[in-house]
Amino acid sequence: MRPPIDHEPRREADPDVTDRSRSPYRSGRRGPGAGGAGGKGNKGGKGTPPSPSPGTAVRRVAYDVLRAVQDRDAYANLLLPAKLRDRGLTGRDAALATELTYGTLRRQGTYDAVLDACIDRSLSSVDAEVLPLLRLGAHQLLGTGIPPHAAVSATVNVARRTIGQHRARFANAVLRKVGARDLDAWLDIVAPGPEDPAGRLAVVHSHPRWVVEALARALGEDPAGDLAETERLLAAHNERPEVTLLAKPGRASIADLVNAGAREARYSPYAAYLSEGDPAQLTEVRQRRVAVQDEASQLVGLALTRVSVDGPDARWLDACAGPGGKAALLAGLAGQREARLLAAEVQPARAGLVASAVHRSVRDSARVVVADSTRPAWKDGAFDRVLVDAPCTGLGALRRRPEARWRRTPESAKELAPTQEALLQRALDATRPGGVVAYVTCSPHLPETEGVVEGVVAGRSDAEVIRAADFLQEVPDIAAGKDGKYVQFWPHRHGTDAMFLALIRKSA
Ligand SMILES: C[S@@+](CC[C@H](N)C(=O)[O-])C[C@H]1O[C@@H](n2cnc3c(N)ncnc32)[C@H](O)[C@@H]1O
Repeated sequence: MRPPIDHEPRREADPDVTDRSRSPYRSGRRGPGAGGAGGKGNKGGKGTPPSPSPGTAVRRVAYDVLRAVQDRDAYANLLLPAKLRDRGLTGRDAALATELTYGTLRRQGTYDAVLDACIDRSLSSVDAEVLPLLRLGAHQLLGTGIPPHAAVSATVNVARRTIGQHRARFANAVLRKVGARDLDAWLDIVAPGPEDPAGRLAVVHSHPRWVVEALARALGEDPAGDLAETERLLAAHNERPEVTLLAKPGRASIADLVNAGAREARYSPYAAYLSEGDPAQLTEVRQRRVAVQDEASQLVGLALTRVSVDGPDARWLDACAGPGGKAALLAGLAGQREARLLAAEVQPARAGLVASAVHRSVRDSARVVVADSTRPAWKDGAFDRVLVDAPCTGLGALRRRPEARWRRTPESAKELAPTQEALLQRALDATRPGGVVAYVTCSPHLPETEGVVEGVVAGRSDAEVIRAADFLQEVPDIAAGKDGKYVQFWPHRHGTDAMFLALIRKSA
């Protein structure tokens, strides 16, 4: 589906890269005073290149972020806002730069298949400086409503400024081939046929094949069979998600969020959806009474607090707390019940973020420690409730982290498994008999979810999985796994990240 974006301003649509006499950048080689009509053109004088037009500046930001993601594993969601600020892009220009960056990263797999068909040699032999620019151009041509001549010329203008005239000509030639067909026509050519359903979905919906197969298995579909629900999930990953806000219990209310322009959420009593605007600008967010947090993240934390525990209910542990989203919710709920939360995080910088997230919680209920929860300093049986929100592949948050799907490999999940198991083992040790552990991942990948829980619980005589969906009865269609013991949220069913939850009771 094409995102709704504004067409380029007319002046961006005019220059044609093949018509050098009309290029606005030729003026840079002319003498002083050779700027455009009205005296507002290039005022830099001899040797000073003219400022790029807004359309070129927008694409330059997108290109710089795409290169940083490719070359040094940068995170687009962290780098892009900084680049927009540095270059002074706001409003519609910032929105377009964001759409171009995220859209290109999301649809990279599809565009690579198209580009491969447009280049005589293999795509992997294309220079690292050129490839992100080709993808950016392909996105404008195939994934937006930008007029093709504007998409090509503005992209090639960036090429000239960044990678030189020779490679700009190559980009121009490739993008003209890309623009010769629309997306559907290209998919008819480059996507595998129905005999290879996972391969087809990988190209059509731009996911690595192994991710398509892993998600299909998590949804209970055969990767070689009909993948109707998997296709709905993959399509949802390519949509722009709404921002979900958390009203920290005891510090803000849903009414505050609604007053700030958000609308009440479907399931979480602490959530509201913000369709437009920058959440960082909200007063409540600046005052840290409200945070940005996915609704499923809120609900898995809430489920942990809803399980009844016989005896005391005063000591809670968040064993993997950074950056503090769930700790903020748990700290508020703990404070309202006169319980205390210990929030542990192994990375000192992230522990700092947790401290900021739980600051001024109800009754000042939370303490933050830098600690390795696989080798904890606390005593066995010290806690009544424990949350393990384990480090994972993040395959459940692909809507929000557009580059993550290209970074992870099947090996990533295997490498994480020992830590996930150790964290769950130590969490069960830390829980008193009768207490409860929530094991959570923002990934639905079975080896990280059921695989870990079943491996750990099978080796212990003091742990029993309880039906997690019973504690979230307001949410339809979340029971997962054998006998529906687990909870699995899905973007295409619930509009949330694909969070997994297992609740495990510690027996005597
Ligand atoms: C999925 S994130 C947790 C997200 C967090 N619960 C929230 O809602 O904001 C996992 C966190 O666990 C931390 N972590 C990884 N290994 C750990 C360990 N051995 N002990 C404590 N924290 C660990 C990571 O640094 C990361 O911050």
